[in-house]
Amino acid sequence: MTASTGVSTSRNNSDGRSNDDALLLVDNLSVGFPTEDGVVHAVRGVSYTLRPREVLGIVGESGSGKSVTSMAVMGLLPKSAQVSGSVRFRNDELLGLSESALAKFRGEHLAMIFQDPMSSLNPVYTVGWQIAEALRAHHDMSKDAAMTRAVELLTTVGIPRAKERANNYPHEFSGGMRQRAVIAIAMANDPDVIIADEPTTALDVTVQAQVLDTLTTARHETGAAMVLITHDLGVVAGQADRVLVMYAGKPVEIGSVDDIFYTPRMPYTLGLLGSLPRLDAGDAERLTPIVGSPPSLINLPPGCPFAPRCPIRQPICDVEEPELRPTTSATHVAACHFSEQLEGKSPADLFQTSVADDVLPEDAGESEQQDRVVRGEETAEQVPGGGQS
Ligand SMILES: Nc1ncnc2c1ncn2[C@@H]1O[C@H](COP(=O)(O)OP(=O)(O)OP(=O)(O)O)[C@@H](O)[C@H]1O
Ligand code: SF4
Ligand SMILES: [Mg+2]
Repeated sequence: MTASTGVSTSRNNSDGRSNDDALLLVDNLSVGFPTEDGVVHAVRGVSYTLRPREVLGIVGESGSGKSVTSMAVMGLLPKSAQVSGSVRFRNDELLGLSESALAKFRGEHLAMIFQDPMSSLNPVYTVGWQIAEALRAHHDMSKDAAMTRAVELLTTVGIPRAKERANNYPHEFSGGMRQRAVIAIAMANDPDVIIADEPTTALDVTVQAQVLDTLTTARHETGAAMVLITHDLGVVAGQADRVLVMYAGKPVEIGSVDDIFYTPRMPYTLGLLGSLPRLDAGDAERLTPIVGSPPSLINLPPGCPFAPRCPIRQPICDVEEPELRPTTSATHVAACHFSEQLEGKSPADLFQTSVADDVLPEDAGESEQQDRVVRGEETAEQVPGGGQS
């Protein structure tokens, strides 16, 4: 991994918050991967502050750079990655640290939980042994004391008959139990920050809820702050204090959960909200998916990367990529030239359902309907100033 710094000296982060009381401070973090076709600009200037005990949800479509951001924070990227910016834990800069110094940080302060628990568990050792080893790696503990603590941790994360179960191998655990065991390992050294990357995506719905509860227990027991990465805004609503919405390698909106859910100021965020199934929604509130796909991160064209999918796109959007700027408050920031126009708008005001019978002729094919949604026809005029440049 090659690293260079390009850090702002401002006392405020571009998420609008003071840098002073941040536990984890990510500043203008960028990551590129050289490939035969060119550099993949996977992360393009991510900044956020995480305060003690806070939960930051990071949401965005597949490929938006959520995992690469977190791997950069943890120092787990491949050597070929080109990394710039800054990642500070309290006052220590982590980018550019040696592998051994980083390993010490990871053990004592930062823990990561991955989507697939088997990537963190070794199939040839018992679960209890693995938790005990995680403890002994950073504490002067006897094997017996470590095993006793491992059983306590398994009990805390809700494994029944933990003393017996500690002697099982990972394959003898169900998927949900394995993820709980990984959470126990993450808790082992009382971390200050837990980064959970899609911790429930591989699990079925009922188990997902249990694992989310276990994560909450882990936070309360350790007092750790958490970065929770997910595709699912529903998960964020129940867990996070703040939300960072990522698109094409960049944060496009950051705010409190209420900011994001009740006063979103970036069309992509509205699109995500409109794609969220709601059990209480009637027929009038159909899902309004965002048509189209994110751009390639090699040779990104100029302008707003969301423009090809944006229903309120204007000519300037194709020329100038918007910066994050304050919206309803200093700490609610969005990257959109026309964020003011979203005041009071619902997802359905911007994004049409692909079965919008009322606005499309009966014989319009699916592709025509989708094209219209992508072009923003029928929607631009619903937004004040829509259609004007
Ligand atoms: N080692 C690598 N070499 C080249 N490109 C990479 C590498 N790792 C990731 N990428 C690319 O970086 C981009 C961001 O990937 P990342 O895994 O962070 O997405 P994500 O938001 O976590 O997606 P998902 O929701 O599917 O997990 C993607 O385009 C991915 O293909
Ligand atoms: S209005 Fe323009 S700047 Fe805002 S999201 Fe749409 S394309 Fe991007
Ligand atoms: Mg990912």
